Amino acid sequence: MRRNRGTDSIRKLVRETTIEPQHMILPLFVEETLAERTPIRSMPGVYRETEQSIVNIAKDAQSAGLGAVMLFGVSHHKDNTGSDSMRAGGLLDRMVRRVKDACPELVVIADACFCEYTDHGHCGPLTHDGCVDNDATIENIGKQAVIAAKAGADIIAPSGMMDGQIAAIREALDDANFINTPIMAYAAKYASCFYGPFREAAGCSLNKGDRKTYQMDPANGDEALREVALDINEGADMVMVKPGLPYLDVLYRVKETFGMPTFAYNISGEYAMLKFAAEAGALDYEKAALEMMLCFRRAGADGILTYAALDVAKQL
Ligand code: PBG
Ligand code: ZN
Repeated sequence: MRRNRGTDSIRKLVRETTIEPQHMILPLFVEETLAERTPIRSMPGVYRETEQSIVNIAKDAQSAGLGAVMLFGVSHHKDNTGSDSMRAGGLLDRMVRRVKDACPELVVIADACFCEYTDHGHCGPLTHDGCVDNDATIENIGKQAVIAAKAGADIIAPSGMMDGQIAAIREALDDANFINTPIMAYAAKYASCFYGPFREAAGCSLNKGDRKTYQMDPANGDEALREVALDINEGADMVMVKPGLPYLDVLYRVKETFGMPTFAYNISGEYAMLKFAAEAGALDYEKAALEMMLCFRRAGADGILTYAALDVAKQL
């Protein structure tokens, strides 16, 4: 076995997987009425961008050759339904327009969910008993998707884990004549504690409760295949598994079973683990991030959503 590992060039010749900038998608946070870009304490190196500074980092993503950016809004106009995200002139509309105006060639993915825009932090409006109302959410998510598509979003990525959301978005997009806008479904999204830093980043901590009635139980693998099958049947063009690192088995099974364009979300907590381990001198952040990306690719990911996208692209 060692003859094939003898030199750099032989290793390169027999290498099975690669990671290129176009395989990575950079998530970005845009906060309205923010005076200057602000570091996120639990994610060293990641910022909440202003509606102005977002353009600079989008340009960096474009010139690094990244596959896409994914936009998250940090709203100051929250209510029970997250209505600001369904409104022309709202933050979602403005941030997508801003990035597409500055970087028309850059693929812009709009995260489609309500938790960044609801005052309670859940992914859809609450009923009187405090439960997320599935059918009200999917009715609204179609409206939100159309706002994002009108603003120029190239892909819509629903992350709320409501039943029927893919069909609802497809129908709304088609009715509004966005017949060519693909849907990247957060198809198997787990109720994970590794999202911790994201909730600080996106300012969407839950007032009470958790997301266990709509996101998946980390104990389940077969169920992920059923979730993904439903989303494909409803019209998903690409599917995603989230989180990433602790769920590589799920990623592998989804890719093997369906052969769809399959993405992994290397989430905030995974990024934070590397950063803080590196700060403690335990490992080399750059090398670890690159290795992680290769492992996602080996496990079957066509692409990876990762906060390390620019740092990895720089090394390639
Ligand atoms: C919200 C959403 C979350 C993430 C992306 N979209 C958080 C959650 O579901 O609680 C997590 C991303 C990350 O942790 O990096 N629908
Ligand atoms: Zn959500």
